[in-house]
Amino acid sequence: MESDEQILHILTKENFTKEDLVNLLNSDISGRNILYKKAAEVKEKYVGKITYYRGLIEFSNYCSKNCYYCGIRKSNSNTLRYDLNDEEIMSAVKFAHDKNYGSVVLQSGERNDKQFIEKVERLLKKIYQISNGELGVTLSLGEQTKETYKRWQDSGARRYLLRIESTNKELFYKIHPNDEYHNFEKRLEALQTLNDLGYQTGTGVMIGLPHQTIEDLANDLLFFKNNDIDMVGMGPYIEHSDTPMFSEKHLLLPLNERFNLSLKMIAILRILMKDINIAAATALQAIDPIGREKAIKIGANIIMPNITPTENRKNYLLYQNKPCTDEGAEDCTECLEARIYISGDEIGYGKSGDSKHFFSRMKK
Ligand code: 5AD
Ligand code: SF4
Ligand code: FES
Repeated sequence: MESDEQILHILTKENFTKEDLVNLLNSDISGRNILYKKAAEVKEKYVGKITYYRGLIEFSNYCSKNCYYCGIRKSNSNTLRYDLNDEEIMSAVKFAHDKNYGSVVLQSGERNDKQFIEKVERLLKKIYQISNGELGVTLSLGEQTKETYKRWQDSGARRYLLRIESTNKELFYKIHPNDEYHNFEKRLEALQTLNDLGYQTGTGVMIGLPHQTIEDLANDLLFFKNNDIDMVGMGPYIEHSDTPMFSEKHLLLPLNERFNLSLKMIAILRILMKDINIAAATALQAIDPIGREKAIKIGANIIMPNITPTENRKNYLLYQNKPCTDEGAEDCTECLEARIYISGDEIGYGKSGDSKHFFSRMKK
């Protein structure tokens, strides 16, 4: 454990070494409070006490992949599959627009077929049309070819989220099958392609994975920094009983420790990359009822209210105990509004809330 003096000393530095990051991640209760205070100050100074909404539409849980940790993996036959039609999706989009959300996130399991690619293209054009291009769209649809990324960009997508899940290649292959569909280098390439094409690029990792070390997490933070990432979404790993990784449950940290480690990761990242967008991941709320608010207080500035139609939510269970599966879009909007005000932030209504980092990166 590091003393308060050591934590204070590290926080005066301009740049953190890997060892500094490890020490910050290992901070005890009093050390971590110093870290959180500093992160809150950095947030206020560089991105303001504003939280931006991204309406999350989980439009299909069909997935061609078999990630070992994920409840909607292809081989989980206990998941009832759904695929929302254009009308259903557009009605969620209209809700977000009417409620003055700055933007929406289209998320689904990973598919690379023509029908899927065309559907996303069509939706992007419709969203642009109904909002006069005002509604920002983030895609979270996994690895695609450069052509596909380009096509979607030409149809109006500006931001893309593709979590690396872990930057430790060995760990990556412990949590994914080692085959052509789950390839570490391909994922890195996909991130690079998004960056080269001029997307605001987001990535992230899961925290508290079996076999993951504090050094791994320090390296994850350095990866975000070295790759000039614009947005990060990261949260605790939460086991799902219908997945292969459930058999490693005995190796996991207790849930509250995974939660605390996730908050520390967010706070450190805010200090490390002052002007990026950081999401308060929904998985935080699966552990602590006010987990997302805590993340907002110590550095996160993005929240993704779920606006998926209620009847589909319980089938988009990436992990168990996922919150808001019985609620509707209206419920989550009002609930989160109260929660954000309580945590001391304003809501960036009507603002697309682009990553400030993206623009400073573009000027370089
Ligand atoms: N626990 C936490 N996060 C998970 N995800 C998938 N399965 C789990 C899980 N069991 C995350 C992955 C993926 C994102 C959409 O959800 O990081 O990128
Ligand atoms: Fe599919 Fe994504 Fe789940 Fe992997 S994490 S199985 S790609 S939905
Ligand atoms: Fe969904 Fe509170 S955020 S019900």
